[in-house]
Amino acid sequence: MFAVTAARIDAEDPLAGLELGERPDLPPPDGWEVVTVKAASLNYHDVWTLQGVGISADRLPIILGCDAAGIDATGREVVVHAVIGDPTVAGGDETLDPARSLLSERYDGTFAQRVTVPRRNLLPKPGVLSFEEAACLPTAYLTAYRMLFDQSGTKPGSTVLVQGAGGGVATALIILGRAGGYRVWATSRSETKRERALELGADQVFPPGARLPERVDAVMETVGQATWAHSLRALRPGGRIVVCGATSGAAPPAELNRVYFLQLSVVGSTMGSRDQLGRLLTFCEQAGVRPRIDRTLPLTQAADGFAAMIAGNLFGKVVFTV
Ligand SMILES: NC(=O)c1ccc[n+]([C@@H]2O[C@H](COP(=O)([O-])OP(=O)(O)OC[C@H]3O[C@@H](n4cnc5c(N)ncnc54)[C@H](OP(=O)(O)O)[C@@H]3O)[C@@H](O)[C@H]2O)c1
Repeated sequence: MFAVTAARIDAEDPLAGLELGERPDLPPPDGWEVVTVKAASLNYHDVWTLQGVGISADRLPIILGCDAAGIDATGREVVVHAVIGDPTVAGGDETLDPARSLLSERYDGTFAQRVTVPRRNLLPKPGVLSFEEAACLPTAYLTAYRMLFDQSGTKPGSTVLVQGAGGGVATALIILGRAGGYRVWATSRSETKRERALELGADQVFPPGARLPERVDAVMETVGQATWAHSLRALRPGGRIVVCGATSGAAPPAELNRVYFLQLSVVGSTMGSRDQLGRLLTFCEQAGVRPRIDRTLPLTQAADGFAAMIAGNLFGKVVFTV
């Protein structure tokens, strides 16, 4: 089958390790099922893999891609949950299983004509969502859903700041926050992206580091080092930063005096459980939410999507069709 593979690790030039070509179809293990992929979406995770972040060279070659929507062996339209873990070891939440992995970390991922996953990782695709839209949900939108609705400690009507508005997770946070009754403020380096964030439902937008009209209840962090100091300053006393990523660097000054004096919380968040993905699918259906797609490309042109992500030229998700 045709697939997009991480063949080598190259921290400086991630595209150098990207290979497009034939890979063998392997028989599914017991309890696993083969899904015919119709659409898959790109995440920064796929770039990290090519750079050797979160994976070691002995796992290569491995098919990239966490997210997919497709058709299962019985002909059902499905969305693939990307977290491979055991919910029973961690109180029903497989993201807390110490042995959990994401598709494309230990098991081949979704950038292929077919992907093999545990049967419990398949959820019915709502008919109102296209395969392309559904393929955006399992990583960026699920991560945003958990950050905002489960980890932020806020309620509808609260004010949240989303750093780096253009990204896949960030656009998801704006869309879901707006639909969930939040006042969403967003920053972006680009004026064009700030305008688009307003169109998407952000209430106000700011350049990075700008003084805000008032302090916010929570900050959604995916950028890391470049925005961390601003995130700490943006919070009201007792406020919370929810962090799921650190694209610009992972070791900013912690500013512990600010954290304890203002009694701030910093909470990590990763992906979401199968139950949360089920609720996200229903939320999209009920609230009329549709993911923001920057561009859709055939899987054979995956390298163009990777290049746009590395260059930071995106507003929303890159979707590959198969
Ligand atoms: N923990 C999890 O489960 C999980 C799940 C999904 C993603 N993540 C992580 O979250 C991060 C974002 O992922 P994504 O897929 O949304 O990536 P993406 O679509 O490439 O978004 C990157 C974002 O970072 C901002 N940015 C990048 N470099 C910056 C810099 N130097 N200064 C300021 N802003 C910068 C961009 O904002 P502007 O261009 O608008 O300024 C853009 O919003 C990644 O680190 C990823 O690994 C984690």
